[in-house]
Amino acid sequence: MEGTNITSSFLLFLFLLMGSSSFVVSFEGPLYDSTAYTECKLQPDEPLYGGGIIVDRLGNSASSGVYSTSFILHNLTQGTIYCFSSWVKIEGAGSALIRASLKTENETHNCVGTVLAKHGCWSFLKGGFVLNSPSQLSTLFFQNADDRDVNIEITSSSLMPFSVQQWSTYQQYMINTKRKRAVTVHVSDKQGKRLQGLEIDIEQVSKDFPFGSAIAKTILGNLPYQDWFAKRFNAAVFENELKWYATEPEQGKTNYIIADQMLQFVRANQVIARGHNIFWEDPKYTPQWVRNLTGSDLQSAINSRIQSLMSKYREEFIHWDVSNEMLHFDFYEQKLGPDAALHFFETAHKSDPLATLFMNDFNVVETCSDVNSTVDSYISRLRELRHGGALMDGIGLEGHFIVPNLPLMRAILDKLATLGLPIWLTEVDISSTLDKETQVK
Ligand SMILES: *[C@@H]1O[C@H](CO)[C@@H](O)[C@H](O)[C@H]1NC(C)=O
Ligand SMILES: *[C@@H]1O[C@H](CO)[C@@H](O)[C@H](O)[C@H]1NC(C)=O
Ligand SMILES: *[C@@H]1O[C@H](CO)[C@@H](O)[C@H](O)[C@H]1NC(C)=O
Ligand SMILES: *[C@@H]1O[C@H](CO)[C@@H](O)[C@H](O)[C@H]1NC(C)=O
Repeated sequence: MEGTNITSSFLLFLFLLMGSSSFVVSFEGPLYDSTAYTECKLQPDEPLYGGGIIVDRLGNSASSGVYSTSFILHNLTQGTIYCFSSWVKIEGAGSALIRASLKTENETHNCVGTVLAKHGCWSFLKGGFVLNSPSQLSTLFFQNADDRDVNIEITSSSLMPFSVQQWSTYQQYMINTKRKRAVTVHVSDKQGKRLQGLEIDIEQVSKDFPFGSAIAKTILGNLPYQDWFAKRFNAAVFENELKWYATEPEQGKTNYIIADQMLQFVRANQVIARGHNIFWEDPKYTPQWVRNLTGSDLQSAINSRIQSLMSKYREEFIHWDVSNEMLHFDFYEQKLGPDAALHFFETAHKSDPLATLFMNDFNVVETCSDVNSTVDSYISRLRELRHGGALMDGIGLEGHFIVPNLPLMRAILDKLATLGLPIWLTEVDISSTLDKETQVK
């Protein structure tokens, strides 16, 4: 509501009407099914969409020996958004990462969905793909991601096509119903008498939904850059300026001058900022002096870092990325044992109990072909930390895209949503190796 600026000498009362109203658009056409499961179940559920267009099922016994389990798909069209799901069970290992791939006459998509499947119960795989050229005959197949010989069982599968039009209509419908609210304006005079028939102008000057960008210190003193940023965004993340190597290049010599100046800029423009990051598990970006420390020296440097950063910036940043890229790197665990990150979360929470603490990683939503950061491994790491006592307030997804696979992205978000935590895309970019038009799409 702070975004409503009304020039009028009357007192205004604005009411938020929650829930349904004439404002809500109706939606016809196939509804996307956001159902997802992340627990292994004794019985699989019914297939989504009643199975959709899945027909030709090849059993588990493909003679080539390459395809453990596969579906033959006929006449797939270019640009159509295909969403699929299956329940998966394995034999021959306690658990295994199962990857779905797609081969057409002209294209190979190595990963269009994954699931960490288990022996003795059914796990839910959800994914999707979009083809660059039409295909008369394609194979959707499921394989173990490593070399072990694992038998894969598939059941309750579904494949559902959405045209670009249907997909974007559904998107618009969700934006209208989830992100927007109807507003009723009542106008009265100073005596509280209701006035009617007036013409009033309402200008929305800011929005609640956070839409942001990374900023670098080069924004300081650069007015065109500042202007460009402030016109478009209401959220920011400092690219490098809060990282340990930036604020304490030498032990004990902390320097927050640049970060303070950037904070002044975002404050002046009513922009919210994420705190990125307290620790980074990648040794490459850990200060050399920290890499030299071990045991209690390292532990006390860590405690000082948390203390210094979080007391200085108490309630300034809306989130903190506590232990960046934990799925890919483990600098602190190598040095201090498997509970290192858990300790970061505990200490950060104690230093500032109101701070909102996030995990943050890459290649979770960008692709499913990174075995270190599949959606299920992210979920199990989050659960592990929570069981260990960490207060986890949100899921950070870096979002460094080449060409985003929309239905796969959506399927991954559906699975992450089962945790009931806020999900933020924290560092979105699209590869500059693509031409501008492709980037925009
Ligand atoms: C696929 O399309 C071809 C050519 O249009 C048609 O002959 C064939 O029957 C279609 N196959 C299926 C399974 O619909
Ligand atoms: C796919 O490949 C075939 C040859 O295998 C070619 O004739 C056809 O034009 C290709 N289709 C597209 C859409 O690229
Ligand atoms: C790290 O340790 C090495 C070897 O002891 C030493 O030469 C170097 O100066 C140390 N670097 C820092 C930044 O403390
Ligand atoms: C990812 O996982 C592989 C295999 O477990 C491992 O060798 C590699 O170091 C991991 N890290 C990254 C950054 O990919």
